[in-house]
Amino acid sequence: MKVLLINGSPRKEGNTATALAEVAKQLAKEGIETEIMWIGNAPIRGCAACGQCAAKVLGRCIFDDDVCNRISEKFAQVDGLIVGSPVYYGQPNGALLSVLQRAFYSNAASISGKPAAAIAVCRRGGASAAFESLNMPFHLLNMPVISSQYWNIVYGRTPGEASNDSEGMQTMRTLARNMAWQLKCTQGKPAPGRPADEEKATMSFIR
Ligand SMILES: Cc1cc2nc3c(=O)[nH]c(=O)nc-3n(C[C@H](O)[C@H](O)[C@H](O)COP(=O)(O)O)c2cc1C
Repeated sequence: MKVLLINGSPRKEGNTATALAEVAKQLAKEGIETEIMWIGNAPIRGCAACGQCAAKVLGRCIFDDDVCNRISEKFAQVDGLIVGSPVYYGQPNGALLSVLQRAFYSNAASISGKPAAAIAVCRRGGASAAFESLNMPFHLLNMPVISSQYWNIVYGRTPGEASNDSEGMQTMRTLARNMAWQLKCTQGKPAPGRPADEEKATMSFIR
């Protein structure tokens, strides 16, 4: 079984990387394979709402000039997802949100139903809001949200400082154990036994 960990920081070796490394180390101890993907710091487009991915059932974003499709291609190969982001102005990193919105929208079928968790990394404040924001798509995609002993928040400013946040690091290890537990219970199958979906009722509020 395998978990994809997305590092949404422009700093490859920053505090988000430290938090994700702690999760990955614990997952390895639990016998779960991991892959950490860094979104990099090259320009990333926002969703253009062109609808081409849905209209043509592409399973990928029509724009292939950034990291988005390289990330979403991994969705089918993994059994769980963990997204880590630095906190910027009380929000997740904008580039990360751009990637995730396009990847989820264009390739939802490959990730729906798989367990997921978010991690927010900050110097001082705004992590709860960022954490909640990162969790929003999981709820929309039938993805069981994996919890820990506290909200998945890690503190640190300059790269590496997060390793001094002993409670944050413990929260990361607990998260990893809970993710492994979920995967072992479900044998990596997305929510086996989950009731079949009804036909989707998409309501318009203006008609
Ligand atoms: C543009 C920008 C905005 C930031 N906003 C916040 C913030 O709202 N709250 C906070 O506690 N830290 C804030 N920080 C600090 C980062 O969240 C913190 O340094 C974090 O460890 C960065 O993670 P990284 O090393 O993985 O990039 C901000 C940093 C930047 C560059």
